[in-house]
Amino acid sequence: MTPLKIDGCVALVTGANRGIGEALVQALLQGGARKVYATARQPALLEPLVAQDPRVVPLALDVSRPEQAQAAAQQASDVTLLINNAGIAHYGVTLLDDAAPANLQEELDVNLFGILHMFRAFWRVIVRNQGAIANVLSGAALQHNAMLGTYSCTKAAALSMTIGMRTLLRERDILVSSVIVGGVDTRLAKDVPSFALKTPPSVVATAILAGIEQGEEDIDTDPGALATRARVARNPKKAERHHDIRLRGLPALD
Ligand SMILES: NC(=O)c1ccc[n+]([C@@H]2O[C@H](COP(=O)([O-])OP(=O)(O)OC[C@H]3O[C@@H](n4cnc5c(N)ncnc54)[C@H](OP(=O)(O)O)[C@@H]3O)[C@@H](O)[C@H]2O)c1
Repeated sequence: MTPLKIDGCVALVTGANRGIGEALVQALLQGGARKVYATARQPALLEPLVAQDPRVVPLALDVSRPEQAQAAAQQASDVTLLINNAGIAHYGVTLLDDAAPANLQEELDVNLFGILHMFRAFWRVIVRNQGAIANVLSGAALQHNAMLGTYSCTKAAALSMTIGMRTLLRERDILVSSVIVGGVDTRLAKDVPSFALKTPPSVVATAILAGIEQGEEDIDTDPGALATRARVARNPKKAERHHDIRLRGLPALD
């Protein structure tokens, strides 16, 4: 697929108020983006980014709301690079915990439906502008982590959805990248002990933009992502058992 140059691009980043999203905005500005739509549920949180650079355009956007995704596409019809970054995770919840169904629903609304709403709202914009799309996923998409039980399911589904988007847009030569992220030093990962190494979000953001510039469909951003990819490729059945050690055992049978 045709790569996209960051220099001169018009990007939109979801969940841009902190973590990897904020780092992506910084990296895009540094890379010469012409404009960056920084989007967040609470746009007031974007003020530091807006104050930093006139190329930052704040937009209110809750990705779980399809009408907000459609409104963003109306306002941001010049976008050439859509980065679906927003995500949530409930750590320490296995599929057997009472909270699992509600947590799964919440995570699906953002991690899966969010990407779908954005794709449906923006695909014409991206095709017209000969742009690109990147979906920020997780090593949990490749290898289920039982302590991130519901989250892993949403990211695996989002990987399948990303492949579906890529298939649809291939005939228009549009790059759709799946971004595999390992452990990153953000609020989302603060309780996750299995991430021995937490990569700074700036490193991950730089890797994402480099992958897009190189036209990569599968972008592994950090050592954790690379290790997961290699483990699954080497021995998928062994990789399945990688996180067993952290399990607490089954609840009582009675
Ligand atoms: N950190 C890691 O180790 C790690 C590992 C693998 C994958 N990832 C992925 O990387 C992405 C970014 O996560 P992060 O680590 O930067 O986490 P983070 O610091 O918790 O940031 C998550 C961002 O998503 C936003 N968000 C949540 N729900 C939203 C919604 N409904 N609509 C719009 N924005 C919403 C949050 O906004 P609010 O401030 O409004 O909540 C926040 O800006 C996620 O997709 C995550 O799954 C992270």
